[in-house]
Amino acid sequence: MLAHRGLFRDCVVMTLDLNWVRDQFPAFAEAPLQGQAFFENAGGSYTCQPVIDRLMRFYHQRKVQPYAPYAASTLGGEEMDEAQRRLALMMGVETDEVSFGPSTTQNTYVLANAVRRWLGEGEAIIVTNQDHEANSGPWRRLAEEGIEVREWQLNSETGSLEIEALEALLDEKVRLVVFPHCSNVVGEINDVPAITEVCHSTGAFVCVDGVSYAPHGIPDVGALGPDVYLFSAYKTYGPHQGIMAIRRAFGMLLPNQGHHFNSEMLYKRFTPAGPDHAQVAACAGMADYAEALTEHHGGPAGARDGARFAHDLMRAHEIETMQPLLDYLSDKNSARLVGGRDASKRAPTIAVELAGNAEEAASKLAPHGVMAGGGDFYAQRPLSAMGIDPDKGVLRLSFVHYTSPSEVEQLMKALDQTL
Ligand SMILES: Cc1ncc(COP(=O)(O)O)c(C=O)c1O
Repeated sequence: MLAHRGLFRDCVVMTLDLNWVRDQFPAFAEAPLQGQAFFENAGGSYTCQPVIDRLMRFYHQRKVQPYAPYAASTLGGEEMDEAQRRLALMMGVETDEVSFGPSTTQNTYVLANAVRRWLGEGEAIIVTNQDHEANSGPWRRLAEEGIEVREWQLNSETGSLEIEALEALLDEKVRLVVFPHCSNVVGEINDVPAITEVCHSTGAFVCVDGVSYAPHGIPDVGALGPDVYLFSAYKTYGPHQGIMAIRRAFGMLLPNQGHHFNSEMLYKRFTPAGPDHAQVAACAGMADYAEALTEHHGGPAGARDGARFAHDLMRAHEIETMQPLLDYLSDKNSARLVGGRDASKRAPTIAVELAGNAEEAASKLAPHGVMAGGGDFYAQRPLSAMGIDPDKGVLRLSFVHYTSPSEVEQLMKALDQTL
């Protein structure tokens, strides 16, 4: 048994059993995908078996309006509730603090509209230029209402968001700060607890875009401390849903965006669209997968501790797999690595600027069995701020815990032959 020390608090954590992990993802057994190394996970991950099973079961056996008093409907409703309850437990928040929407873009859009009505003229919010547009544009539009929008700017050399720069922007006028847990092009993991503490100390609420972080381990939102945490299930081994955890104090303060008769139900206040029943139910498969991963590796019982263990296990594997690629890219004259080269401080969402067009570079990798993407990834603001032309874009090489060291080698060989 291989073991690491200190990854899960003071416990010993086993090395990830990669064969077992890959067996949980049917894509790895599919003939058309054999020999294909997948490096566009930040765009959307492979789906794990429990999610597919639950989705299939819902469509085969429960495809009726849920919550009615006949078995197919009752079971469907129970599975939807189960998904909400188990994800909430994993994230360390209350069940009704978790809501599902069509996407994170839609969730931020609705939330921003609620904030638009809550804030008054002369009050301020802070946005960053490190975010994906989904957590930037809708907030910036609040300026049309007379709300002051301040920009927390990244360091143009390193791509980092520095906390001192935030502190210089904060004052009693600021009611909300929005930022990413991890940018989808910079990859650096922002210190959510420290940033949240600074914001809360001046009375500002905090909204975190966790889309680029959650695939690397569902976070303990309760411990991290923000008032809102958003992520996308389809990048986190699940179906195409946006998931939002909103803490009660903030959620009940904002005006309801749903039907008037649902206004006391926190999880219905910011998702005016009717839910996709089957997909919501299938999200419980994400919890099944995390739980099975923890159990297989001898981790602790209990949703929250188990999720933390799964998170640490995934991160440890990713860090080990990522470092050689970061070293390789940093040493390559023909590529500029975006973000830092220390794997322990970032997610394996790795963007590089090349001399030429990034989409063309990605298409050259395809014949080598490497699935990667090039473009701006809706992160035009951070790219521009770092002096990278969004039209030229970046080549993005993104992976997760199911990626093997041999796939990373395959990628580096392909890069040697194409860059
Ligand atoms: C960091 C980040 N935030 C937000 C989004 C938007 O998520 P969705 O596709 O669920 O709207 C994305 C999508 O790529 C993203 O990468």
